[in-house]
Amino acid sequence: MSLETPPMKKSSKPGRRALVPVIVVSVILVVIAIPFLYELLTFDPRQQETQVNLPQTDEELEAEAAALLEIGDPANGDALIEKHGCYACHRIGVVNGIAPAFVDMAEIAAERRPPLSGPAYILQSILYPMAYVVDDFDPAMPQNFSEVLTQQELADLLAYLTSPDAQ
Ligand code: HEC
Repeated sequence: MSLETPPMKKSSKPGRRALVPVIVVSVILVVIAIPFLYELLTFDPRQQETQVNLPQTDEELEAEAAALLEIGDPANGDALIEKHGCYACHRIGVVNGIAPAFVDMAEIAAERRPPLSGPAYILQSILYPMAYVVDDFDPAMPQNFSEVLTQQELADLLAYLTSPDAQ
C-alpha cells in the first residue's frame, strides 16, 4: 500500500507541471491577441480614407480644389455619380427641375460666385450645399457628402465635373 501511493503521485505531478508552460504561453498569446482582435472587430476600411479636408475660407477652398485636381481622375467621375446617387437628381431629376444638370458645369461654375473659381465653387457645392443655393432650386442636395465621400472620390468627382465630359 505504502509503495503504491508514491508512484501515483510521481506520475501525476510531472503531468501537471508539463501543463504549466502550456497554460502560461496560452495566457500570453491571448493577452497579446486581444488588441489585435479588437482592431480586427472595429476595423473600418473607410476610416483612413474618408476624412476629407474641410476648407473654410474662399482661399482654403481654392487651395483645396487645386490640390484635389492634382490627384483627381475624371475617368472615375461617371461611376461615382452612379455610386453616390448624384444622378437621381442631377440627371434623372433634371427634367423635373429637381437639380441643375452637370452639362457645361465648368463654365457655369466659374460664373456662379466670382471671384470663387469654378473648381472651388464645385467643391463648396459638394461639401457645403447650403453655402449657395442655385436660383429656382430647392436646397435638396444631401448635406453629408463630406462624411460619405473619400478624399480620392471627391478629387475624381471634381476632376470629372470640371472636365468637358461632365453630364
Ligand atoms: C437629392 C438630390 C440631390 C443629390 C442626390 C445630389 N444633389 Fe447636387 N444639387 C441638388 C440641388 C437641388 C442643387 C441645386 C440647389 C443647391 O445649390 O443646393 C444641387 C447643386 C449641386 C451643385 C452645384 C450646381 C450648380 O449648377 O451650381 C453641384 C456641383 C452638385 N450639386 C454636385 C452633386 C454631386 C457631386 C452629387 C453626388 C455626390 C450630388 N450633387 C447629389 C440636389 C442633389
